[in-house]
Amino acid sequence: MKTIGLASDHAGYPLKEQVKEWLTARGYEYKDFGTYSTDSCDYPQFGHALASAVENGECPTGIAICGTGNGINMSVNHHKGIRGALCWQPEIAALARQHNDANIMVMPGRFIDAETAAKCVETFLNTEFEGGRHQRRIDAIPFE
Ligand code: RB5
Repeated sequence: MKTIGLASDHAGYPLKEQVKEWLTARGYEYKDFGTYSTDSCDYPQFGHALASAVENGECPTGIAICGTGNGINMSVNHHKGIRGALCWQPEIAALARQHNDANIMVMPGRFIDAETAAKCVETFLNTEFEGGRHQRRIDAIPFE
């Protein structure tokens, strides 16, 4: 069983708690890299902790949440081994795996309902990368 890494800021914390319930109910293991309350905090700290864990293989997959998704997505994507994808619909979550081989799914906690978020999580965790032409494209993403 893969350990799913989780991270959020205060704005993403409520949805992260719901995602944890969803994962537990389906037998997934997870590691929560914080934050652990709705007290105001800075998303890079938690995004970087999760991204490091995905980069070093501790967690093959991660889910990150802030208010819009943008700040924590920018943070995780500063890591060379990370492809973070902002997802707010299951179809986008599917394409993030199929075309982008995303290893962190990012959601906008203040702009997505729990049911849609759960569908995004389910889709992201159960969709394979298609490879082929998409491999060439993701290989060209890192920029020196
Ligand atoms: C926090 O207020 C908010 O700025 C943060 O969660 C995120 O939306 C930033 O991109």
